This record gives sequence, structure tokens and C-alpha cells, in this order.
Amino acid sequence: DDVTVAELRALAERLAREAGALVRDGRPEHVEVAATKSSAVDVVTAMDAESEALLRRIIARERPDDAILGEEEGASAGTSGLTWVIDPIDGTVNYLYSVASYAISVAVVAGPPDPAEWTVLAGAVHSIVDGRTWTAGLGAGATLDGEPVAVNPAGPLATSLVGTGFGYDADRRRHQAQVLVDVLPRVRDIRRLGSAAIDLCLVATGSLDLYYERGLNPWDLAAGALVAQEAGATVTGLHGRAAGVDMTVAGPPQAVSDLVALLEAAGADSDGSR
Ligand code: IPD
Repeated sequence: DDVTVAELRALAERLAREAGALVRDGRPEHVEVAATKSSAVDVVTAMDAESEALLRRIIARERPDDAILGEEEGASAGTSGLTWVIDPIDGTVNYLYSVASYAISVAVVAGPPDPAEWTVLAGAVHSIVDGRTWTAGLGAGATLDGEPVAVNPAGPLATSLVGTGFGYDADRRRHQAQVLVDVLPRVRDIRRLGSAAIDLCLVATGSLDLYYERGLNPWDLAAGALVAQEAGATVTGLHGRAAGVDMTVAGPPQAVSDLVALLEAAGADSDGSR
């Protein structure tokens, strides 16, 4: 089919907004943990499942031949060569505690099932509490609520505000804390806001200078990475590898090189030796 990037971007935005309205209006006063996943701190609520079900229903109606990869229900096959990569609530722990940073993340990618070989065509990140919505189309720029956005000019690490996040595995966290020992004294400050998708969009808007995290899944990363990239960010891994589960670093190109060097020296793309 001859769907355009602009059409895919518009649909990604609609999906993110509709699921966002469901999550916002349906939030009970006391959110319960429905289940845990990779570890006791990796939680899922009933709303994660409801939001993903809504996203899947709309995609099935509007784009029945596309594949879907979702955080809660996994992969379902398609025939068009396009895959919707969806995170029904990115920042579930914030949702649980009513901390404002959580979002719906929707991206549409072309290519084989291996994230390393994807091309992200369009994406939308809808921040549920404040309603802010970032979208991007490949080669078509990034916007926040319709207005073009751009990363901050690169500055020295010492005056850079750096976002990061931590995984759910205790050994990984021990090493992430160790890496932070090297990073924190060298930067303006660190933020751990709790939604990777929003963090990447904050780089696109200049509310963070830089962002890095190990262990991101494709649904945390795909939409926000395109938003950051289309806002002028370099989004990369370490040692010349692409951004992905091993490491994602985002920010203005020169500042990213400095942070990459620091993270490489700290062995930040491993889980350490202990
Ligand atoms: C998590 C958030 C968090 C990041 C974790 C992610 P989830 O996503 O993006 O900021 O540090 O790595 O897993 O589990 O809330 O969808």
C-alpha cells in the first residue's frame, strides 16, 4: 500500500492520544499492581493491559495488515512490512504512584523483526498527565503540540543536565549505580524521571541536555528516539553500535561524543563483573 509517513505519523498521534485519554480518565484512586514481570519491581497494572488492548483494536481496524509489537502482549504478525511498536504505559511505576511522568509511546517501523534492522518511520509520545504530545516523521522533523522542536546546543558535560534510568534486575542496578559514580561528579546534575519515552522527548525539547540508559526495550525507545533524532539529536549506542538494549545515548552530537567516551570508559554497556 502507498501509505505516507505523514499519514502514519497522524495515526500514531491519534493512537497515543486515545489510549492516553483511557489511561487518564480510568485511573482509580488507588492503583493496584496486577502482576510482576522480570522481577518484583517490574510491575504491570490492569491499565497497561486495557491500554494495549485499545491500541491493538484501533490498529487492527485502521491497518489490518500491519504487525504489532507491544510490551504486554508481544508480537502479532502482519503482511504489509510495517510494525506498530507500542508501549501502553511507559513509566508504569510513576502511574502506580501518581508521579506525573508517564506516557503512551507509539511508533511504526519498516523492515524485519530485528530492531537493529528497523527504520522508524513515525512516532508519537503522549504524556498523559499534562497532555503534551510529541510526534515525528522520518525526515519530516519533530514537534511538541504541533510546534517544531530542537535539541539544546552542545555544551560541556560539566554544565549538562543528564537524564537516565535503571533496569529492574538487581545485578544490573548495582553496575548502573557504579557507572553513576563516574558520571554524577562530571555533569550539572542527573534526573531519573521514570519514563524513557518522555526522557527522549525532553532531550528533543531541551529540558534535558543528554540522556543515557542501558536495557531499553524497543517499545520504550522507538518513538522517542525518532523524536530526538528529528529534533537534531544523535541517538547511538557505545563502541559504534546502534542505540538499543545494550545502551542508548541521546543528545546534541558533540555532547553525545563526550558522554559516550565517559560511558565506554565506565563499561556502561555491560552489567559489570560482580
Ligand atoms: C520503563 C521506563 C523507565 C526505564 C525502564 C523502562 P515501563 O518502562 O521507561 O524510565 O528506566 O527501563 O522499562 O516498564 O514503565 O514501560
